[in-house]
Amino acid sequence: MSLPFPILTAEEAAELVQHGQTVGFSGFTPAGSPKAIPAAIAQKARREHEAGRPFKIGVITGASTGKSLDGALAEAEAMSFRTPYQSNATLRKQINTGAVKFVDMHLSLLPQVVRYGFLGPVHWAVVEAADITPGGGIVLSTAVGAANTYLRLADKILVELNASHPATLLGMHDIFEPLDPPARQEIPIFAPSDRIGSPICTVDPAKIVGVVHTDLADETGGFDEATPVTDQIGQNVADFLVGEMKAGRIPPQFLPLQSGVGNIANAVLGALGRSPEIPAFEMYTEVLQDSVIPQLESGRCTFASTCSLTLSPEAMKKVTSNINFFNKKILMRPQEISNHPEIVRRLGIVSMNTAIEVDLGGNVNSTHVMGKTMMNGIGGSGDFTRNAYLSIFSCPSTAKGGKISAIVPLASHMDHSEHSVQIVITEQGVADLRGKDPHERAQLIINNCAHPDYRAQLREYLKLTKEGHEPLSLSLGLAMHRQFLRHGDMRSINWEEYR
Ligand code: COA
Repeated sequence: MSLPFPILTAEEAAELVQHGQTVGFSGFTPAGSPKAIPAAIAQKARREHEAGRPFKIGVITGASTGKSLDGALAEAEAMSFRTPYQSNATLRKQINTGAVKFVDMHLSLLPQVVRYGFLGPVHWAVVEAADITPGGGIVLSTAVGAANTYLRLADKILVELNASHPATLLGMHDIFEPLDPPARQEIPIFAPSDRIGSPICTVDPAKIVGVVHTDLADETGGFDEATPVTDQIGQNVADFLVGEMKAGRIPPQFLPLQSGVGNIANAVLGALGRSPEIPAFEMYTEVLQDSVIPQLESGRCTFASTCSLTLSPEAMKKVTSNINFFNKKILMRPQEISNHPEIVRRLGIVSMNTAIEVDLGGNVNSTHVMGKTMMNGIGGSGDFTRNAYLSIFSCPSTAKGGKISAIVPLASHMDHSEHSVQIVITEQGVADLRGKDPHERAQLIINNCAHPDYRAQLREYLKLTKEGHEPLSLSLGLAMHRQFLRHGDMRSINWEEYR
């Protein structure tokens, strides 16, 4: 079918984007992110810099992206601000030196924040599509992210039509954007498989100023090999959920699962799939990782609502080669819906996310190492945790070869407060914090989750903080962090040194 839109090279498209403009990119993780145009914008930035001219753009996405977007733009020093989430090493450095302004945001809120204009105008929507119609119907590719909102709000649109994604992805998306208050109504999702919107984004064709043809696979990385620690964490999560079911606190048909990103999340889902006592389950989540694909095939997972298909090339091949099966099993939704608090609360989601550190009160830091250095961002973890029926955080009990304890007296940064965190799980065991006061919580976390190398010193800390509702010492709360910075190891602390 011939298209009425100008067919451009990526370089011609990049020429249209000007210094100081804000671009809303499609995608959520490297899945569904444009690849050719951002790489060409990065090249343009280098040329401009060499000619002595400034060139930086504001970059808004769904979540993290791939090396051709965050990687290329960061390496070309072409970003002025970035939101809402990233996981690229070069960009991370620039954020932590202050070279790029980074706003860490709940992913479900981002589309509304953009609609309200809090981030200024969106000059361009640059989206990856699996198909496009002459009338402006766009079939997104392997993610929705916030693309539907950028397409509607942006002044102009550039489309990467990617032949590596089959047009048969049509039907796997469910595009729905709520109205803003006071006109907002309920979001009528009562089960993960409920379809409420359109399979395509429909835009004003006059806004499409160019289509760039590409044939580029998603730049999704693989996972680290499972380790005894990640396997044990996964097993502890599975055992805990089986116990909840036996106690009647999870119904026999189970509850929909949300699972975070990364190695630990992948290991947890693998363990749940293998557990014979966990019945077939549904997912209502934001990222679908490789471990779920065989479970959908075998019927262990009966349906997955997600925002993206963050799959390795091999797993993606499985999906596209059996698309008639998978398009009945998977729906991709905008992040405003995949992560929406209303739905998370209504469906009774079991949320499972990863912590960098957990403190004795049950507060979780998911984002900042030693309180200062941004890792990736809060992502969707807050959207789910704050509204879940059961909110679980897991992590290894130590990091950096045992020199850092993930269980600390006071979190050096707080993303999820004691009011939202219910269950903490490490390879050591499970701390069920429900119905426990702060001193009981602290005991449970030390006894069940802290590494044995750290239990004695954490108990000493507790003895020093007996008074008050919270076991807190303002002078010693961050002493283990200070110990690491001073001596390179949190172990064997002498609390007197920090009084
Ligand atoms: N202090 C210092 N570094 C720590 C640490 C701590 N307490 N805990 C973990 N780390 C480091 C690890 O050593 C590792 O470093 P490396 O990359 O140099 O090896 C890195 O953090 C990642 O940790 P890892 O144990 O491999 O876990 P992960 O890949 O599962 O990532 C998070 C963990 C917390 C960084 C990641 O899950 C995240 O960004 N979460 C926030 C967003 C989120 O939850 N999104 C999902 C919502 S749906």
